[in-house]
Amino acid sequence: MNKIAEIFTSLDYGPAPESPDVALAWLSAHDNTFGHFINGAWTKPGKTFATENPATNKPLAQITDGTAADVDAAVKAARAAFPKWSALSGYQRGKYLYAIARLIQKHSRLFAVLETMDNGKPIRESRDVDIPLVARHFYHHAGWAQHREREFPDHVPYGVCGQIIPWNFPLLMLAWKIAPALAAGNTVVLKPAEFTSLTALLFAEICEKAKLPKGVVNIVTGEGDTGAAITSHPDIDKIAFTGSTEVGKIIRKATAGTGKGLSLELGGKSPYIVFDDADIDSAIEGLVDAIWFNQGQVCCAGSRLLVQESIETRFLEKLKKRMSTLRVGDPLDKAVDIGALVAPVQVARVTELVKKGIAEGGQLYEPDIDLPPGGGCFLRPALITGVSPANTVASEEIFGPVLVEMSFRTPEEAVALANNTRYGLAATIWTENVNLALDIAPKLKAGVVWINSTNNFDAAVGFGGYKESGFGREGGREGMASYLKPAWEKELKPFVAAAPKAAKSANPLDDIGSIDQTAKMYIGGKQARPDSGYSRPVLSPTGALVGEVGDGNRKDIRNAVEAARAALGWSTTSAHNRAQILYFLAENLEYRADEFAARIKAQTGEDGASEVAASVERLFAFAGWADKYDGAVHNPPQRMVATAMVEALGTMAILAPPSRPLLGSIALVAPALAMGNTVVLVPSEKSPLSMTDFYQVLETSDVPSGVLNIVTGESKVLAKTLAEHDGIDAIWFAGDAETSKMVEAASAGNVKQTWTSRGLYYDLSDKQKFEGDYFLRRATQVKNVWIPYGA
Ligand code: NAI
Ligand code: MG
Repeated sequence: MNKIAEIFTSLDYGPAPESPDVALAWLSAHDNTFGHFINGAWTKPGKTFATENPATNKPLAQITDGTAADVDAAVKAARAAFPKWSALSGYQRGKYLYAIARLIQKHSRLFAVLETMDNGKPIRESRDVDIPLVARHFYHHAGWAQHREREFPDHVPYGVCGQIIPWNFPLLMLAWKIAPALAAGNTVVLKPAEFTSLTALLFAEICEKAKLPKGVVNIVTGEGDTGAAITSHPDIDKIAFTGSTEVGKIIRKATAGTGKGLSLELGGKSPYIVFDDADIDSAIEGLVDAIWFNQGQVCCAGSRLLVQESIETRFLEKLKKRMSTLRVGDPLDKAVDIGALVAPVQVARVTELVKKGIAEGGQLYEPDIDLPPGGGCFLRPALITGVSPANTVASEEIFGPVLVEMSFRTPEEAVALANNTRYGLAATIWTENVNLALDIAPKLKAGVVWINSTNNFDAAVGFGGYKESGFGREGGREGMASYLKPAWEKELKPFVAAAPKAAKSANPLDDIGSIDQTAKMYIGGKQARPDSGYSRPVLSPTGALVGEVGDGNRKDIRNAVEAARAALGWSTTSAHNRAQILYFLAENLEYRADEFAARIKAQTGEDGASEVAASVERLFAFAGWADKYDGAVHNPPQRMVATAMVEALGTMAILAPPSRPLLGSIALVAPALAMGNTVVLVPSEKSPLSMTDFYQVLETSDVPSGVLNIVTGESKVLAKTLAEHDGIDAIWFAGDAETSKMVEAASAGNVKQTWTSRGLYYDLSDKQKFEGDYFLRRATQVKNVWIPYGA
């Protein structure tokens, strides 16, 4: 019998192992024991714990469990290094990044083998995906370092960045964090995940070899409490985190009120949508990559398969057949598809979730394939069908080699199912119909959309989530922007409110005659009485009663949010149309300039005419921006383009500052509306009448009902309700430090994006600062759509 013919039918593979020797030699050169890398030197190992090879469950090395004192030493080193590092020219910083990229390429085999041994991922992936992308990231950011000042004028680096990363792409996540931070001029303290610290420690040696100045990069190893020591350290200026949504929310709360910058890249439950006209074989190969790449331990894994009903049976048959050819085995074997999960605890977590999914009615399919003998964290690829969207496995991130399948009938149903999740990291679309693909992509609430492809990444293309998948982007221009802040922010002074004066009259009714004069709220395009039936007096600077407004409560907020969400069609009206409406709004405000000026004067005693003029001008400014603040097309190395689309955040809560009753609201509302958000506005608590008057302008300006809703009342109380409301996607609060902190902490519930003034005085009349992209950037999120393209 011909041996080759036999192999051809059985498709048996011989072993093709990559040698572990380089990595073992490196480990033993360090006596298999590591301290931290702080201020350019290795600390003596402290209390250590083992990092294991999950394919064998045997220890590889002992690493140090970082204490708060270790973190403090690292922060001090980073702080000391910052002035010199940030003062280098971009060219000089860029050369260091370039040197790091070169050295990573030079040592790529060691990196790949070490990564695979520590993490369990197949060598094919660490060698062909992780490490090349790491090098690419440093190369790309060498260029950003050089061009930073030109491309981000009037911006400065944060200072010291605390970076906490997960175990699924240990070195790649390090690169995503460190490259832009250094390019921007920051120094860093990075903590790798406790399961996978080794390549970060090897990276420290690369920094030494590149002669990176001491203290610019500090690596502190340890577990969650070491991470917590970073997030709570008072001398860290920005936190960048990738990991579970649960820990992301803890970090959001821990950093609330501190003024630290924050970016969060969290979990996902990304849909993988296959339409009936898809190239099925390609879609199946893509799916293998989407859910079994890295054993499914991928934040953007295509873990929810949505197949059009008419092809469901055929698709699942083919899929099962393909699953039976996947090879689970020694991660160092070059012909293995699926390696080991990161640790026994992850195997237990995944197994538990699968059990739950079956108990809740799902049907499990696992191919009859061998697992390697002798233990190790191996699982077979799994498919769960027959689930409803409410099944735990259909809604929770499993983070393992488990695919969950559901079917749909129409494109509308596909979109509804796809978006039926608290996450919004990525989505994949398969169809041969370009019109259908480009019709669905904008409807998906996800930060990355892949068309007829999946799991494409590149340093030039931003990556990050919508909704509870976090905020901020890594990669490209947006990624650079998240490591920079406006230079003027450090000059902000505390806001000092004018001392409140007592009302002249004991009985406020004496001044205004009748309760009917209480200004109404404005909800869903209609005037609304406050649910409470109570009103609040509005006083002049001398304490005279100027009028009354409703005292808004939870119910009023609920109605306003409902109306605002119902009006979200605003975000898909054309930018030209939004611009026209904002121009019209400005024009109609100008017609009533005298009336509004008088009202401002009555409430504040200040020159109302100039505030009205500034408000009209600001509306014009953002009308002008509506059709200009748009996206980009990136050219990654893949045969694709990625269109970076600027999208609205959704429904925003805006709590205007106490001062400038008209401009204070307009300066914040105009950019939000221009970018297609719908808004629940709480106008100045002290002087709300300018905005309750504003409904008349809205009504004559074609602003669709529900696009702008106005609820009056106590700012602090309404801020809390809004910050906790799941129907709000982002919240801006201008006011005191204590309420700012509360808003940021309460926003953790659904990971809202926030902007708060933290008791500082933002002079919103400053056109230079606030008529440009400052608020536009904060009112939008970028969706990167990857489209096959190329000659
Ligand atoms: P994790 O979110 O706990 O760990 C990520 C990083 O955060 C690690 O470096 C960890 O030491 C650190 N950390 C933990 N608690 C912290 C705290 N209170 N303050 C600061 N840093 C802290 O993720 P874990 O426990 O390793 O995995 C649990 C689950 O999370 C996984 O099963 C998976 O579902 C999900 N996960 C998702 C990731 C993603 O990228 N979407 C990445 C890692 C985990
Ligand atoms: Mg390990």
